[in-house]
Amino acid sequence: MSGRTKRIGVLTSGGDNPGLNACIRAVVRTSISRGAEIFGIRRGFDGLIKGDMDAMDSRSVSNIIRRGGTILSTARCPEFFTEEGRLKALKVLRENEIDGIVVIGGNGSLMGAFELHKLGFPVIGVPGTIDNDVNGTDISIGVDTALNTIIEAIDKIKDTASSHNRTFLIETMGRSSGYLALSSGIAGGAEMVLIPEVETSFDEIVDTVRNSYKKGKSHCIIVVAEGWKPGTKELAEKINEIGKEYEFSVRVTQLGHVQRGGDASAFDRILATKLGAAAAEALISGKSGEIVGILGSDITFTPLEEAVSYEKQIDKKLYALADIMAK
Ligand code: F6P
Repeated sequence: MSGRTKRIGVLTSGGDNPGLNACIRAVVRTSISRGAEIFGIRRGFDGLIKGDMDAMDSRSVSNIIRRGGTILSTARCPEFFTEEGRLKALKVLRENEIDGIVVIGGNGSLMGAFELHKLGFPVIGVPGTIDNDVNGTDISIGVDTALNTIIEAIDKIKDTASSHNRTFLIETMGRSSGYLALSSGIAGGAEMVLIPEVETSFDEIVDTVRNSYKKGKSHCIIVVAEGWKPGTKELAEKINEIGKEYEFSVRVTQLGHVQRGGDASAFDRILATKLGAAAAEALISGKSGEIVGILGSDITFTPLEEAVSYEKQIDKKLYALADIMAK
């Protein structure tokens, strides 16, 4: 970056999640406190390619710390994953004299950030995704709020499940990650959790359902990650078949996009503020090509290359714990 006032950009990309606004606010106010100019880029990489950006000030981010969604809007942008798209973006950034950008998003967005860094443009990534599948951080922005939403749903479904002695399959989001299903299964006291990272046979599932009733439970709650195969619908059909014999019935609740909305939890507001502030600081101080995350209680930096190069592993001990707790 040159000696003139630094000009920083910020964008949100990919699926939205609660806490993005708190993070934008932290990037904006930290940049201003460091004497930089700050620009909000709309609709992620798509807006970047189109030069859709505006200067922001402290008041642009007033009263947004709690709000779900993103005031900058977001998008998934296949064009950015072409060389032509990236070169267009680079041209826009140079024309607007932007010295570096903060990219807030999940794996796909951080891959985009890495591509930009490889072109020699300064970029810092912040992990924001309910899937919690980004390496270099224990937890991403939005995960805690999504978990609270899921748990509220599980608690409510348990009431009706117990009243009817039913089995419920509750499907959570997470793409190919089972993190949300596993964590909400533990916190919601589910009888079983099905995640893509662990193979579970149909016989095991049927045994769990049968045994729940045999043990005198009034319901059987199974949390299913959307990435689990062969899938929730197929499983419901199979369980319904055997259910006829044992006189229990199955219902399916696909939680869907409700998991991505709502006010951010206190945890997400604080996490987003810490990560957004650290990202802006780092960019202004000359860092690039890294993501800021939280490992243990430390704010850490990990090369983007490493963060996006392999799939984040699920904690197998946590899975074993879920199993013990379900007995
Ligand atoms: O990555 C976040 C996420 O909510 C995933 O859990 C889910 O698979 C996907 O996005 C849904 O994407 P869309 O909102 O584009 O349907």
